[in-house]
Amino acid sequence: MKIYSIYNIKGGVGKTTSTVNLAYASASQGISTLIWDLDPQGATSYYLCHKTGIPGGVKNLMEQNIPLYEMIKSTGYPNLDLFPADASYRYFDQYFAETKKPDGCLKKMIKSFRNRYQRLFLDCPPGLSLLSDNILRVTDILLIPLIPTPLSLRSYNRLVKHLLKHDQWKLKVVPFFNMVNKNNSIHRIVTTNVCEKLPIFAKQTIPHSNIIEAMGIKRSPLAIYAPDSMEYKAIVSLWQEVIGRHP
Ligand SMILES: Nc1ncnc2c1ncn2[C@@H]1O[C@H](COP(=O)(O)OP(=O)(O)OP(=O)(O)O)[C@@H](O)[C@H]1O
Ligand SMILES: [Mg+2]
Repeated sequence: MKIYSIYNIKGGVGKTTSTVNLAYASASQGISTLIWDLDPQGATSYYLCHKTGIPGGVKNLMEQNIPLYEMIKSTGYPNLDLFPADASYRYFDQYFAETKKPDGCLKKMIKSFRNRYQRLFLDCPPGLSLLSDNILRVTDILLIPLIPTPLSLRSYNRLVKHLLKHDQWKLKVVPFFNMVNKNNSIHRIVTTNVCEKLPIFAKQTIPHSNIIEAMGIKRSPLAIYAPDSMEYKAIVSLWQEVIGRHP
């Protein structure tokens, strides 16, 4: 099972939106795909029309009195399942800190998904925390959505420094620009300069678009209500670029 984490220290950059759309693109290739909504805000669960809440909350995830795979929900879309968010996820760090190996807790939890899915997508909350270190430790491919602004690049540089400090994490990184407004000169300058100078950035960018924002009203992946849109084509092309670089 390959683990894709959609993460950024910065909030509101499109982690959840990208998780849902990229995981859908993965599932539509006939690959069994699970999304774990790790954010207590539960936005992925909302987009996929599921209530948040898991029996026993984080305590049960730690003790695994109920096997985790029993809490997986079907999204109704072929090959795409969801492990929902829970309000208690805000206590992940507290629970992890009490264990002997605080940075290995998520790895243990994910174990029960390994033989059931080919790909796992983690929708991550923002911020640097014990949870984010647990996430980075298990991640194969780190997808980092960024809005093309100087502040966003600043938090990206902070994340890169953090990753460099932990070279034991064997992850591959694909940053990409989201919410790109071609009429905004700062966006134009940042995307052009960065994509030219830093080949690690995906060539494909995702536009700022009302069609994408409408996911909050439609409560479904973009592919369901706008399959022929240039926005969904951009998502598919980004996904192809990710799997092309890291098959
Ligand atoms: N490409 C886009 N075009 C227009 N709106 C977008 C786009 N991507 C995301 N949004 C909107 O931006 C807002 C933030 O997106 P999202 O919730 O995916 O970010 P996030 O990084 O997951 O936020 P958080 O840090 O709170 O988890 C949402 O209202 C979403 O609809
Ligand atoms: Mg989110």
